[in-house]
Amino acid sequence: MKILVTGGAGFIGSAVVRHLLADTDHSVVNLDKLTYAGNTESIPSALHSPRYVFEQVDICDAVELDRVFSEQQPDLIMHLAAESHVDRSIDGPGAFIHTNLVGTYTILEATRKYWTGLPPGKKAAFRFHHISTDEVYGDLPHPDEISKGEALPLFTEETSYAPSSPYSASKAGSDHLVRAWQRTYGLPTIVTNCSNNYGPYHFPEKLVPHIILNALAGKALPVYGDGSQIRDWLYVEDHARALVKVVTQGEDGETYNIGGHNEKRNIEVVHILCDLLEEMVPTKPAGVNAYRDLITFVKDRPGHDVRYAIDASKMTRDLDWNPQETFETGMRKTVQWYLENKEWWNRVLGGEYRLGRLGN
Ligand SMILES: NC(=O)c1ccc[n+]([C@@H]2O[C@H](COP(=O)([O-])OP(=O)(O)OC[C@H]3O[C@@H](n4cnc5c(N)ncnc54)[C@H](O)[C@@H]3O)[C@@H](O)[C@H]2O)c1
Repeated sequence: MKILVTGGAGFIGSAVVRHLLADTDHSVVNLDKLTYAGNTESIPSALHSPRYVFEQVDICDAVELDRVFSEQQPDLIMHLAAESHVDRSIDGPGAFIHTNLVGTYTILEATRKYWTGLPPGKKAAFRFHHISTDEVYGDLPHPDEISKGEALPLFTEETSYAPSSPYSASKAGSDHLVRAWQRTYGLPTIVTNCSNNYGPYHFPEKLVPHIILNALAGKALPVYGDGSQIRDWLYVEDHARALVKVVTQGEDGETYNIGGHNEKRNIEVVHILCDLLEEMVPTKPAGVNAYRDLITFVKDRPGHDVRYAIDASKMTRDLDWNPQETFETGMRKTVQWYLENKEWWNRVLGGEYRLGRLGN
């Protein structure tokens, strides 16, 4: 299959591209604008692969999208390109509206034009797979707020949308656009909504790499509010495997929730990372006795969602997918990766970002 991946130079997109290139049945067209979050060094396996093409294109540029579709003739599209960082959406929502809404509309229209002209066999097998987030559902009750014995709810594919941040609202809008193009024009689409990812090649402003790199530098480990917010963590390679299953085997018009069954409070995540670093890097920066001593509680994010948790049983039932990593094995692999890939993150830190903000 020739698969066009948008945002393939980002954190999850690069994991998808690496995963696709590892399978000789697939070739990849990576369409990415290369914003501050995009980095082609995250796909070392692409460098010499004859099954890989890179197109530096903005998803808001309809003329360029038409050119790429007509030159590359993809069988499937996986749409990951987005502005993705909640804190940035609070500081400056405009880019999120533009890329996530106008960009998704623009690529849907380009896809519709391309798909309409395909021969019948290729047209029937075609899928536009939109990659989205569990944050579109808003948040769930926290165990601290629920009486003992009461079951804790999970997000299912039927949960109503109630986004809280400019980021999640823009992703919710893009999900609605995709479903409207399916219903109105018959474009074969699939939507996936996934929980928080962590793993290799993660941009250092997100919680997990931020804590690892700040701890290694002997800097404060800032935690929003009291750190009680709960996220459901998924190792990025498990997400990539799930996405490839969905785009190649998923049903037209369906939605699939993807999650790791790993609900953790933010403060627990920080403690686990500190403890792993105590074990793996016992020699600490000057003046640091214990990594946990670096934890600093900072003013909470406005509108901060208290809990996300995914019911991923449809993925298991319909597509036989389950995460391979537990939280413990995935976190250990992640810390190990950051320890072994200083060159990658030093170059990222050499750019616009300077270990400045925390998000998840
Ligand atoms: N990170 C998570 O935990 C998570 C969880 C669930 C869903 N998602 C979704 O998965 C997708 C990928 O997330 P990520 O964490 O890899 O994001 P990321 O910010 O790391 O990467 C986004 C990529 O999109 C590219 N891009 C941005 N604007 C573009 C434009 N206008 N045209 C073309 N390319 C553009 C960037 O250059 C970058 O390579 C997003 O749609 C996000 O909403 C992320």
